[in-house]
This record gives sequence, C-alpha cells and structure tokens, in this order.
Amino acid sequence: MGQLLGKVALITGASRGIGKAIAQKYALEGAKVAFTYLSSEEKARAFEEELKAAGVEAKGYKSNAGDYAQAEELIANIVKDFGGLDIIVNNAGITRDNLLMRMSEEQFDEVIATNLKSVFNTTKGALRTFLKARKGSIINVGSVVGVNGNAGQANYAASKAGIYGFTKSVAKELGSRNIRSNAIAPGFIATEMTEVLGEDVVADWIKGIPLQRPGQAEEVADLCVFLGSDRSAYITGQVINICGGMSM
Ligand SMILES: NC(=O)c1ccc[n+]([C@@H]2O[C@H](COP(=O)([O-])OP(=O)(O)OC[C@H]3O[C@@H](n4cnc5c(N)ncnc54)[C@H](OP(=O)(O)O)[C@@H]3O)[C@@H](O)[C@H]2O)c1
Repeated sequence: MGQLLGKVALITGASRGIGKAIAQKYALEGAKVAFTYLSSEEKARAFEEELKAAGVEAKGYKSNAGDYAQAEELIANIVKDFGGLDIIVNNAGITRDNLLMRMSEEQFDEVIATNLKSVFNTTKGALRTFLKARKGSIINVGSVVGVNGNAGQANYAASKAGIYGFTKSVAKELGSRNIRSNAIAPGFIATEMTEVLGEDVVADWIKGIPLQRPGQAEEVADLCVFLGSDRSAYITGQVINICGGMSM
C-alpha cells in the first residue's frame, strides 16, 4: 500500500476493463486518479462516485483519446484540477478486426487513431508539465500481437507495434530529464474486449498459453502500479510482456 502516494495519474479508457482495474489499484496505492472514457458515460460517473466515496481524489473526463485538441484540453484540465500530473497510462484501445481483404480504410484509421495517435496526443500534451517537474512515468498499453502479428488484426497489430517504437524513442529523448517511458504487452486478458470471441477461438488461445488460463485485468494493473511507482525508477524504454508465457 502507498506505492503511489500523492502521485497524480491519468488513465485513459478506464470506464471498464483493464483501465478500470488500473485506476482501482492506483487509488488503493494512494494515487489521485484522473481517468477518461468515451461512450460509457453512466459507468464512468458511477466509477467516479465509487472512488470519491472511498475517499479518493478522482475525476472522470469524457475525452476522445484519438483527438489531439481534446487531449491537450484534457491535460490542461487535469493539471488545473489536481495541481500536476506524474503518471500517464495510455490504455484506451479498440479493435476493428477483419481480414485484410475485407478491412476498410475506416477500420484501419479508427484503430490507428484510438490506439496509436492517442499515445502521441497525451505524451505531447503532458510534456511541458513533465519537463518542468523533471519527472514523469508514461506507461503505454500494447499487446503481444504488436510483436507477433495476428490474422484478422493487421490494423490492431500495427497500432501496437507503433506504440513500441514511440515508447523507446521517448525513453531515449527524455531519459536525461528523468522522464520514463515503458510499454506493456498483455496477452489474452478476460475483459469485454475478449468476451466477444467465440468459445473455439478462446480455447485455441488458451492452448498456446503455458499458464493455461486468461490473465485478469487486476494482474495487468499490478504491473502498471510497479511501472508508475518509484520502485521501477531504473526501468525505461522497455516492452514488458504480461501474457502467461504466450510470448517469449
Ligand atoms: N483484453 C485483452 O485481452 C487485451 C490484450 C492485449 C492488450 N489489450 C489492450 O488493453 C487496453 C484495454 O483493453 P480492454 O480489454 O480493457 O478493453 P475494453 O474492455 O474494450 O475497454 C476499453 C476502454 O477504452 C475506452 N475507449 C475506447 N475508445 C476510446 C477513445 N477513443 N477515447 C477514450 N477512451 C476510449 C473505453 O471507454 P468507453 O467504454 O467509454 O468507450 C473503455 O473504457 C487496450 O489498449 C487493449 O488494446 C487488451
């Protein structure tokens, strides 16, 4: 407990799934929690109330992760509302799966904007704040398919691979200012995103996982607590798999 005491964290896409679990663990560890959502208005409001009722300084912001101007406004509002910003977890993400033969330009662009451009948007938006404070931790949520590829997910895999190049470049540019940038690569995690997959698809995935089960959002959140905390002060520019051994 208290690993993130007093730190202000932004978690994008935290109305449900992995983002929500991260926000919950961050709150438990003493962080002040700013989070975003896009369409799950009711869930986001209820979550904000739940955190506040537990005595956590928290606020949910409706903000489209893929929109540069909205990200700029978001960061400015967080700094105004919370008095600073220490950690960004770029978690918001979507899938628009289709075989390349059938994939539309819109399906490609939507995934790149939400999953990849979003990471540029918030990082740029927070840069001045991080530089002034001479500290900051950026955690970008990738996926094992960003390294391995996956049939039917050329758009998604490209967006996640792009995150890794961005993460490492930022680590090289900003390491001298004590700003860290890391990515995590979850494997198969049980959330609404994976709920839509058929039983046979899930069984196939599980066969390829040495730990023989899907991961839990809370397990991913634990890694994000570590990367946001000062316990990981000497870790930057890394892509850390959290996948039950699926990818080695
Ligand atoms: N689940 C897995 O197996 C898995 C594996 C590897 C990586 N990941 C990655 O982990 C992250 C979270 O996945 P998840 O499984 O928790 O997904 P999820 O259950 O579908 O939740 C996605 C979250 O992102 C938000 N979001 C979507 N588009 C947004 C946008 N344009 N602006 C702001 N927020 C937006 C959603 O908010 P609204 O509900 O308000 O739209 C929701 O809170 C994603 O980056 C995903 O690619 C997941």
